[in-house]
Amino acid sequence: MKMIVDGAERKLRAVWFENGKVRMIEQRKLPEKIEIFDAENSDAIAYAIKSMVVRGAPAIGVAAAFGLAMAKIKGENMDDALEKIRKTRPTAFDLFKAIEFMKANDFELNAAERYSLEVSGRCKKIGEFGDALIPDNSKILTHCNAGALAVVDWGTALAPMRMAKENGKKIFVFVDETRPRLQGAKLTAWELGQEGIEHAIIADNAAGYFMKKGEVDLAIVGADRICANGDFANKIGTYEKAVVAKENGIPFYVAAPGTTFDFSIENGDMIPIEERDEEEVLNIGGTRIGPETSRARNPAFDVTPSRYVTAYITEYGIFRPEKLPELKRKMNSDLFMSH
Ligand code: MRU
Repeated sequence: MKMIVDGAERKLRAVWFENGKVRMIEQRKLPEKIEIFDAENSDAIAYAIKSMVVRGAPAIGVAAAFGLAMAKIKGENMDDALEKIRKTRPTAFDLFKAIEFMKANDFELNAAERYSLEVSGRCKKIGEFGDALIPDNSKILTHCNAGALAVVDWGTALAPMRMAKENGKKIFVFVDETRPRLQGAKLTAWELGQEGIEHAIIADNAAGYFMKKGEVDLAIVGADRICANGDFANKIGTYEKAVVAKENGIPFYVAAPGTTFDFSIENGDMIPIEERDEEEVLNIGGTRIGPETSRARNPAFDVTPSRYVTAYITEYGIFRPEKLPELKRKMNSDLFMSH
């Protein structure tokens, strides 16, 4: 992904392996600082995933893949390393996909490199297919960060926007701020700024206002896990955006690579939903915002039923919910997906 560091343009990935370490952009510090976080053992990888140094389903998968390869190189007990990494974030299916992939490939470093390249190549294809859904002069709503930071490169929801911009289209993006961790305001807005894509950050509860006023032409979001019937988990708040989009006749697209599809789960009720520390809700930027005596609830994801999805944008093409069995067939005959 393109970024300006100290006035110069650089290309960086969200996660990579170098000199025996797993290196990643420290996403908790963006947009104020571009720092690199180095993980040198599986404890550090588990910490980085759990505490969201690295986040976004596909990037979590890549960090896990490199982390397992590193653990093997360093002679760690692989059962312990697997257990630590598996327990980090329960909703993102890519984590479990990457673990299975690495197990099937003896935790080899070149397998992790291949996994990472596959994921970013697949997201580029999502961009190429998704671009066709974006008319010139579109206003697009997105939620959370499903950009290059969440993937390694390109992004899922942001890939079609990047491609549209590259192809000379004029687009404008409404960026939901995405409480409590503010991935929209901090990360998506930063990525769009680096790419020169016009955008405005909106409070999460302003999305319905703009949709009802006719200011949003389409919505594109990412996903953390998509089930066999098309129900999908994504950042908390996605469900209500999808319902309001349908109410206002706005197409609602879900962009995700095959590594996010969990066809072993029939419907969204079966997706494990991560509940994070209440402190993330009770504080903003280190300042307590509610009464000291108040508690909070903090589900990190919600599930949107497939009836609210216009289509899924994947590396295999664009699929309406009723066409998911066809997608499943394509994935079954894809060697990478079956390891
Ligand atoms: O809690 P996060 O920041 O890991 O949640 C990320 C999301 O919900 C993204 O939309 C999703 O992982 C898709 S990322 C390409």
